[in-house]
Parts: sequence; structure tokens; C-alpha cells
Amino acid sequence: MYHSHTHPANTAADSSIDGVTFMFDSLHEIAVAKFRERFGEAPAHVVRAPGRVNLLGEHVDYNDGFVLPIAIDRATWLAFSPSKTDQTTLTAADLIEEVSFHPETLSAKTDAEGKPLPAWAVYPAGVMWALKEAGLETPALKGLYTSDVPQGAGVSSSASVEMAFVLAWQTLGGWSLPPMERALLGQKAENKYVGVNSGIMDQFASACGEQDRLLYLDCRSLEWHTLPLPQEVAIIIADTKMRRTLTSGEYNKRRADCEEAVRILSGTLPGIQSLRDVPVKTFNQHAVRLPEQVEKRARHVVEEIERTQRAIPLLEQGDMAEFGNLLNQCHASLRDLYEVSIPELDVMVEIAQDLPGCYGARLTGAGFGGCTVNLVAREQATAFSSALALGYETETGFPPEIYICSASKGAELI
Ligand code: GLA
Repeated sequence: MYHSHTHPANTAADSSIDGVTFMFDSLHEIAVAKFRERFGEAPAHVVRAPGRVNLLGEHVDYNDGFVLPIAIDRATWLAFSPSKTDQTTLTAADLIEEVSFHPETLSAKTDAEGKPLPAWAVYPAGVMWALKEAGLETPALKGLYTSDVPQGAGVSSSASVEMAFVLAWQTLGGWSLPPMERALLGQKAENKYVGVNSGIMDQFASACGEQDRLLYLDCRSLEWHTLPLPQEVAIIIADTKMRRTLTSGEYNKRRADCEEAVRILSGTLPGIQSLRDVPVKTFNQHAVRLPEQVEKRARHVVEEIERTQRAIPLLEQGDMAEFGNLLNQCHASLRDLYEVSIPELDVMVEIAQDLPGCYGARLTGAGFGGCTVNLVAREQATAFSSALALGYETETGFPPEIYICSASKGAELI
């Protein structure tokens, strides 16, 4: 039956076809049935691309640092078929909205009638644009998608949409690229078309995720490997339900501050390319040269890069207490130095950190709203989730959404 872990954002789980109401088991079935309802035939293909949660290495991907995300068991499901016209028609089932666009109107960011693309459609259109720029075939398609990745919540709903569409066009376009290449094309769409200067982490995790494995990516060399997820811990996502606003502006400003730090520091540290090249000790010796705000942003980055490096041996030894400590330190740093937290995220983290079984808790993703990630002893996961939900609602008056997640496979053609 429908309900296990479908996000409330999916308004209608049941759908009416020819007056008969159906209940669906999964987003896969919802996507197929709604496609059929809309286009009058079964889709030729279905792809699924997950969101992600990042355990450690926040706001370091665009500083050539290291990140430790997992692909989660919530995803965008896209049902699609080749279109017989040169027009791509997309239905966002959760929004009950539809758009059509042509390759010729892509650069103007308008639909087939010349109206500006709605915000949600900029992601698939951006993917088509990035693929065309790379010389890859993007045959017109008709598609319908639905997702249980909450939007604007720090768990990469946009990257999951991008990865679903890259895979769809790969399926129809007769070309084939490794997952990391597909991730880079999604990042290009986001950077150059959507206009957010994001790093590679989200698209990487959505494209390269592996079941029950933690991913470790060097964002400079793009080398990556996986680590086992310790069996005795559960990864719990707690959604404050606060949605970020104006993120791209703040996000791009953080990135600009990091670039400014590199520019100033390279005066006395010639040869540095990014903050990755500045160990904490060296940073401390040169930090006086930086304006206060730039110094705070850069300090978060150099210390966070060091934390991710310390994390690997701890994970290998199974030292969850120390690893969890790094998550707690990361939150304090995002709150005080990088200044991307909000009061609701701080409340969620403070309550969590005091609960039995919690090794570590912090905001996850870009910040300014959204979710926290919690590392909790598995046998205490259920009690933890209830206590956290109650504590947060008591303090803020709003019920959060909390769920125990598992690491899933990356984007795939089903
Ligand atoms: C967003 C971006 C990522 C990364 C995180 C912060 O999710 O898309 O590239 O920078 O923020 O770590």
C-alpha cells in the first residue's frame, strides 16, 4: 500500500483513471500510471535518481575538499517516451504543472510559447542545454516525474531531477557516459543555466550512490571510493520543514568569500589554488591578512577539510563516538563561522545531541533551512526519532518530519 515513506509533498497518491480510483505501492507505479493517464499510453522507460544526505564535508566541495555523502532511499522517478514532434513536454506530477520547450528556445529560457520557464522546469531544460553544449544528442521526449525528495531541504532534490533527466536523454540519445561524467553535466546545468555556483557533491552522490555504502569523494581529483556503513548506527534525517529562501544568493556569496580568501592568501602563499592547499596550521599563521568575514568563512573550510580527513581512520576503526564528535563540531562551525544555520536547525541539533544514543547531529546540505543529519545507535533509533519529534514540536510549535534512511543505489534505468 501507498504510505510507507512517501513525502506529503506528493499530494495525490491515488489517481483516478476512467473514474476508477487506484492506490499505488510506490512512486514507480505512480509515475507509470500518471504518465499513462496524461499521454494515453505506457511510458517506454522509467528512471530513478536519488537525493543525498551528506555526513561530513559541508561547503568544501567547491574548495576542492573531501565529502562523505550517501545517496538516500528517496528519489525522483521519471517516466518517459520519445516524442514524435521536436517538442519536449514535461509534467511535474507533484505540482500538477506542465511545460513544453524546443531546443531553439532553450538559451532564452522560455517555453514553446515564449513565456519564461517555470522555476521547476529550469532544471530539466538546463540539463538539455548542458548536454547539447557537450555535443550529445537530446531527442525530444514526453515525460512525467514525481519525487519524494523534499524540496529546498538540503537533500538535493534538484540534483536528483538533473540526474534523472541526464539518464533519460542518455537512454534516448544513443550515447553512454560513466556516472561521474553525467554528474559533471548536471553540475554544469546548475552552474551555467540555473545560476547556482554549486560544487559537484550532490550530482556525484545521486549518480554514484551505492547501497549500504558511504561515498568518499576527493573533489579535486574526482577520485572516489566507498566505505561500509557501520551496522550499529542509523542515519536519521530530521526535517525542520523550514524552507530556505534566497539561497542561491547567500550560497554564491559564501563561494565568493572563499575565492577572496584564496586571492589574498596567495600573496604570501604563492601557488595555492584553493583552500584545500592551506592546512589549518598554515592558515593560522596567515589569517590576519584576511578581513573578518572572509577569515571566518575560510576558517570553516580549512578546518572542515581537516575533519573529513580525520574521519576516515575513525570510520575504519568503527569509532562512532569520535566520528559523531566531528559532526557536532561541523554544526558549530556552520553556525558560527560559515553562518548558514537558522534557529530551527540549531534547536533540532541541540535536542538531538542530548538524546541517548546520539553520536552526532548537524545541519546537512547548503543550510538556511531544511534538514539535519543524525548518527544514532541503531537500537535507539526509534526512541530517538520520537523524542526528537516531540522535543522539536514542543519548542517550536511545528511538527518535524523524521525518518531513518538507508544508503541507496545511484541513478538507474529501471
Ligand atoms: C549544496 C551544493 C553542494 C554543496 C552543498 C554544501 O548542496 O549543491 O555542491 O556545496 O550545498 O556542502
